[in-house]
Amino acid sequence: MVKVLFVCLGNICRSPLAEGIFKQLVREEGLEDKIHIDSAGTSGWHIGEPPDPRTIEVAQKNEVPIDHYGKEVTPRDFEKFDYIIAMDDSNRADLERLRRRARHNKAQLFKMRDFDDIGTGGDVPDPYYGGPDGFDKVFELLRRSSRNLLEKIKNDHKL
Ligand code: 4NP
Repeated sequence: MVKVLFVCLGNICRSPLAEGIFKQLVREEGLEDKIHIDSAGTSGWHIGEPPDPRTIEVAQKNEVPIDHYGKEVTPRDFEKFDYIIAMDDSNRADLERLRRRARHNKAQLFKMRDFDDIGTGGDVPDPYYGGPDGFDKVFELLRRSSRNLLEKIKNDHKL
């Protein structure tokens, strides 16, 4: 199994949406037995909580199923996952610090929009404090980036 972990701050907006979008793409390509997908937050603020209602709404509107409860990323995730995908620079810096506490580092660390054709390398903006249109924008960024990320993983692992 190739293992992919999406990470944001709260694990209730961006990363569970990325998880849902990416899972759907993987299912469409019949790769669900080869690629394991999860998400987590750099904070423990929303452990055990379902995603933000606006996350669920934008996912439903786009027919993307979401089934996730909040959890916090740990140093062990660097031993477990092959790809850890941060949403923004702040998540990435937090993850670099966690990585130093891992006993083994299997994971490669990227930012989601390293895989976006438009605005390559930018942040997935945090939609938490904005209006619902922020979630639509995030959805589109995540969908674009997900397609390219999946192509990379298929190439890397000859899937
Ligand atoms: P996320 O958004 O990192 O995309 O899940 C946030 C969710 C919650 C908070 C901040 C960002 N918060 O401050 O609780």
